[in-house]
Amino acid sequence: MAKHAEKIAILGVQWGDEGKGKLVDLLSAGFLNVVRFQGGNNAGHTVVVGGKAIALHQIPSGVLHPSCFLVVGSGVVINLEGFRQEMEKLKALGIEVLGRLMLSSGAHIILPYHIALDKWRESFAGRIGTTGRGIGPAYETKAARIGVRLGDLQNQHGLLERIANLHKEIGLIMGGQEALPSPEAVLADLNSLSTPLLPCIGDTHEYLFNSWKKGESILFEGAQAAMLDIDHGTYPFVTSSSCSIGGLFTGTGLPPKALHKVIGVAKAYATRVGEGPFPSELDGPIGESLRQAGHEFGTTTGRPRRCGWFDAVMARHACQLNGADGLCLMKLDVLDGLDRVGIVKEYRHKDSKNVIGSPFSIREWDNIEPVIEYFDGWRQPVKGVDKWGGLPAQAKKYVKAIEEFIETPIAYVSTGPDRETGLLAPRSCLKGLL
Ligand code: IMP
Repeated sequence: MAKHAEKIAILGVQWGDEGKGKLVDLLSAGFLNVVRFQGGNNAGHTVVVGGKAIALHQIPSGVLHPSCFLVVGSGVVINLEGFRQEMEKLKALGIEVLGRLMLSSGAHIILPYHIALDKWRESFAGRIGTTGRGIGPAYETKAARIGVRLGDLQNQHGLLERIANLHKEIGLIMGGQEALPSPEAVLADLNSLSTPLLPCIGDTHEYLFNSWKKGESILFEGAQAAMLDIDHGTYPFVTSSSCSIGGLFTGTGLPPKALHKVIGVAKAYATRVGEGPFPSELDGPIGESLRQAGHEFGTTTGRPRRCGWFDAVMARHACQLNGADGLCLMKLDVLDGLDRVGIVKEYRHKDSKNVIGSPFSIREWDNIEPVIEYFDGWRQPVKGVDKWGGLPAQAKKYVKAIEEFIETPIAYVSTGPDRETGLLAPRSCLKGLL
């Protein structure tokens, strides 16, 4: 496909795992640059090519297209051992990453101390259910201005001292440094892991600014999703980065006017991993059948995902937050065979029964009673359908109802895990790009 000049962001509007990887992989063929701008190896983007699933955690999902240049912005936190493993897995598939990769010198490094602190905290009651990858602590030391950045590996003046300070501080929090590797050992590991990457570390802001000015196409790949956003999600049951639109600008340094379109991504139902509010959760057999049919087990941790009906209140809120021009609705085929399918169309207060919007405080979520509208299921499966006209009438009705409830046009409907399976919706803003 010929390259164009568009700059498009792909952002999750639920609790992550919406299928952003498939979409980015699909769109990447037409883009010169694919950019990650927040999150770390807590993300797990599965792309399926020729029936083979590949899980990506830190490397942008555009990697499967050899013509894509891959950029990791300063808003990302990096696990160097994870990065090495991912590059090796790709190499075994004949996919080379070095030579078409740029990592921001400002991206913070996840150290073993961060991982230890994350796991230590998660051992107490009131846990968040994190991925245990050290993401929160890495962003904490970034904000405290005591973190270690990729650029520090190129000029190591004072680096050992910084690592030693973190060793001391995190050791104190955890009540002992014994279990933590020594600063010298950590630095030695960082040096050996980063050796092949050193030529790729640079000023990604400058690179992206120049790409924008040259009129090159750029695809921005979000990780996690709006409801896990540190500011706008279901705090404290969130991740530690800005997973909605704001994070794109801080995590790349590009201004809002560099962007043409924002595409939200949601599953045709909802899932969540870890603790926290989930008003449309289905605890019983329907939830279990969605989990099995949708293979709803975490790409990063293997944990079973909680499953529920599509929550239009939440998705509308997230689309508004991101200024979404369109929504890609993924995994519609997982609903094949159900007698009926539900959509949460509003929230009501448990006692007063008044309609309320998406709550801001965690305590308010306890007062939510979801109002669910049910639609007939479809007998003829949607799996593999590749044209809007090929969808059964009930499935069209369901998709159109979502479009109406969330006040955002549906752009694309995915009808199977493979790259090829899906269709453009009638009002799609992705026409000409997919
Ligand atoms: P953390 O990002 O590891 O700190 O985890 C915080 C919360 O975000 C937990 O509930 C995780 O399960 C969730 N989370 C983090 N990354 C992802 C993701 O990529 N998909 C789904 N949930 C995620």
